[in-house]
Amino acid sequence: MKKAAKTLCVAIASLVILSASTCAQLSPSFYNGTCRDVSHVVWKVVSQAVGNEKRMAASLLRLHFHDCFVNGCDGSVLLDDTASFTGEKSAGPNKNSLRGFEVIDAIKSQLESQCPGIVSCADIVALAAQTSVFMLGGPGWAVPLGRRDSTTASRDAANSQIPPPVFTVSELTSAFQAKGLSLKDMVVLSGAHTIGAAQCFTFRNRLYSFNSTAASDPTIDASFLATLQSSCPKESGDDQLSNLDAVTPNRFDNQYYKNLQKNKGLLTSDQELFSGTGSDAATLVSSYASNPLTFWRDFKESMIKMGDISPLTGTNGEIRKNCHFVNS
Ligand code: HEM
Ligand SMILES: *[C@@H]1O[C@H](CO)[C@@H](O)[C@H](O)[C@H]1NC(C)=O
Ligand SMILES: *[C@@H]1O[C@H](CO)[C@@H](O)[C@H](O)[C@H]1NC(C)=O
Repeated sequence: MKKAAKTLCVAIASLVILSASTCAQLSPSFYNGTCRDVSHVVWKVVSQAVGNEKRMAASLLRLHFHDCFVNGCDGSVLLDDTASFTGEKSAGPNKNSLRGFEVIDAIKSQLESQCPGIVSCADIVALAAQTSVFMLGGPGWAVPLGRRDSTTASRDAANSQIPPPVFTVSELTSAFQAKGLSLKDMVVLSGAHTIGAAQCFTFRNRLYSFNSTAASDPTIDASFLATLQSSCPKESGDDQLSNLDAVTPNRFDNQYYKNLQKNKGLLTSDQELFSGTGSDAATLVSSYASNPLTFWRDFKESMIKMGDISPLTGTNGEIRKNCHFVNS
């Protein structure tokens, strides 16, 4: 339905001259006339942050995913709690887990001094994600811009709309479908787990007393299991980190898919893509494992699609002055 509306929009736009707000589309040149330096400022701040800590690139990429999956890419993930709503920061998938807010703040404050009230927090998150991928050796692409910021946020929505790491391939497929994303989008976007790390409590379910007949998840390689058990004990160490890609954790490459083929995926949701029921996801895993350029091409495409989930455009929403708060 959303796709139909967009197609109609393009059809009408080619017949008559349409005002931007009737049919607003994101565009990479959105700030060309109003804040030309946007990408430069994002680049400067992100490269400094990632230079200090490589993992920050992963954290910024994840921030965009968690923003987009909860009521669209609208900067809602950045809002602090208020008297009128409990925001997304304290939701299960985010609490003590999402990182990078201070990097977004640093970009925002520089942009507010250069071009006040122009660049949305949602666009900053999208640009920071792209810059992060590129900085760790991944593909570059022009990020469509023009998102506006929400005036509310919802913890409940974050809890119900962000897929948990214990999901099976069919549950993951439904969660992505609910956002207008395909199985292919899901498999290729999961390739983001080629960088960054996860806390022990997010994958411990696979390591001990798996079910009444298996001591551990049978789709974990034996030596990988031993390594994980030593860094993620049965009863402690909840927040201890393991890299999502144990081989090249700071490189945006296709190693993630090669790991899955060797039963070295970290989360249930990772290994499911190769070992789960049904072969469609596994076929994609194999093609990305053997063709890094196909992974890059499809990743760019799906990132643009994810970045286009229900954006606020035109006169909807606002341009927040401070990403933590709705304008007063
Ligand atoms: C397919 C469903 C997904 C599930 C179930 C999932 C789950 C998780 C979990 C549990 C973590 C570790 C969080 C922690 O331990 O604090 C994580 C980390 C991460 N996720 Fe995902 N994720 C999914 C998809 C995605 C997507 C689509 C992206 C981006 C396009 C993404 C990017 C990342 C990154 C980069 C990290 C590392 C963050 C860091 O090191 O700070 N994930 N994910
Ligand atoms: C906007 O600016 C960028 C960077 O200077 C340039 O590459 C692009 O062609 C410009 N687009 C338009 C529509 O002016
Ligand atoms: C335990 O897990 C294995 C591997 O997923 C599965 O084959 C087996 O049916 C499960 N057993 C029970 C009792 O659930």
